[in-house]
Amino acid sequence: MIKVGLLGLGTVGAGTAAILLDRAGRHHLLQELEIVKVAVRDRGKARSVDLPDSVAIVPWEEIVADPEIDIVVEVMGGLEPARSAILKAIECGKHVVTANKAVISRYGDEIFSKANAAGTYVMLEAAVGGGIPIIQPLKQSLGVNRIQRVTGIVNGTTNYILTRMTQEGGEFADILADAQKLGYAEADPTADVDGWDAADKIAILASLAFGGRIDREKISAEGIRNVTATDIDYAEKLGFTIKLLAIAERQSDNTNVSVRVHPTFLPKGHPLAGVNGVYNAILVEGEPLGQVMFFGPGAGAGATASAVVSDLMAIVGVIHAAAATREETVDSPSNALHPLLSCHHQHYCSLAPLTALQCRYYARFLTTDVPGVIGKLGTVFGLHRVSLESIVQIGLNDRRAEIVVVTQSVNAGDFNTALDVLKALPEVESVPSVFRVV
Ligand SMILES: NC(=O)c1ccc[n+]([C@@H]2O[C@H](COP(=O)([O-])OP(=O)(O)OC[C@H]3O[C@@H](n4cnc5c(N)ncnc54)[C@H](OP(=O)(O)O)[C@@H]3O)[C@@H](O)[C@H]2O)c1
Repeated sequence: MIKVGLLGLGTVGAGTAAILLDRAGRHHLLQELEIVKVAVRDRGKARSVDLPDSVAIVPWEEIVADPEIDIVVEVMGGLEPARSAILKAIECGKHVVTANKAVISRYGDEIFSKANAAGTYVMLEAAVGGGIPIIQPLKQSLGVNRIQRVTGIVNGTTNYILTRMTQEGGEFADILADAQKLGYAEADPTADVDGWDAADKIAILASLAFGGRIDREKISAEGIRNVTATDIDYAEKLGFTIKLLAIAERQSDNTNVSVRVHPTFLPKGHPLAGVNGVYNAILVEGEPLGQVMFFGPGAGAGATASAVVSDLMAIVGVIHAAAATREETVDSPSNALHPLLSCHHQHYCSLAPLTALQCRYYARFLTTDVPGVIGKLGTVFGLHRVSLESIVQIGLNDRRAEIVVVTQSVNAGDFNTALDVLKALPEVESVPSVFRVV
């Protein structure tokens, strides 16, 4: 039997244990996995899974150092002690399966370097997209493609909030409060609504898609706090829907990669536009394949555990294959890692500055309602090489007007310079919203 130590018995840990304790009808390799030790913070807490008496509850330090344990599953979450536990497990020669995007996106360099040196696997299918298989497809089935772009709706909480704002109307703060009551948003929603969680995930996907490490600190993350009911309304009228997108794309110079998270106006016909509620989806575009989209539950005990256990199964598979090879060639034992399951890149991708981006923009201006304002906006944009695709003016009360523009694809630096000039015009009261448009 291959012995597993489980760090964490919360949502994902309990889901993982539940699969491993109920194997009938699943892949035969699961028969070889046995949970022997589990670490939790609070031993007295009621659990949603009944562990057999043979499973010992012990501190995590004991699991990662136990010579009997072959694979450590890290599902504690957070940065510490998760990072230390993963590193220690690798040092002790164990394979690691983790769902922890926060640790992998920040400490991937350290973790994978150590794992490669130790000849152990670190698997992370559950870290992005919950139950959606995306890590192994990027490593294997899609690997022959030259990836152009990976675009994801990878945070269920923000997608739930934006979906409700779109379908019911209502402002962000009210729907967030309701989502918290219903358990769809954390008490501290920062990591989700400010785009940090999505940034962790796109860092991982970009690294796999473009074959280099990604400096997580350099990823620009803009969340959904500034999306208003008014913008959702305009999006609807203009034929768009607003989604929080995590985007990683190869730049035309073929050297730089742009990795970013921001709320985005998405044409209603776009493959990601119909992904609603807590669901996640990841659209991968590459040559020669074209587009392929992965869709499914991005969180939840069963879904995420399905991804965790698939990693366990892959490791059992290679342990078997390695054992068979060793029997055949007893003279040349090798602990070389399977190239499709391990991480071999060591350089960092060069990230394009945001100002170098070419994209379309939506901007909403509050102005005084006097003749010629639209003309002035058009002139300033024109002077900065920003061509407009559409412009709409709506009169408000008190001799004020709201002007909404959608640009053609323009240079981000040019657009921002034009915006600074416009903000200084006496007729422009404010620019409440600016969003990118796909
Ligand atoms: N929930 C999801 O749907 C989902 C989806 C994708 C990825 N993930 C990732 O999966 C990981 C786990 O998430 P989760 O939702 O399962 O978290 P959770 O429900 O909060 O569970 C965390 C578990 O870790 C244990 N734990 C925490 N600190 C510990 C420590 N110092 N020593 C020993 N045990 C410790 C906790 O013990 P107690 O139970 O005693 O408190 C708990 O059992 C996170 O990295 C998360 O980002 C989760």
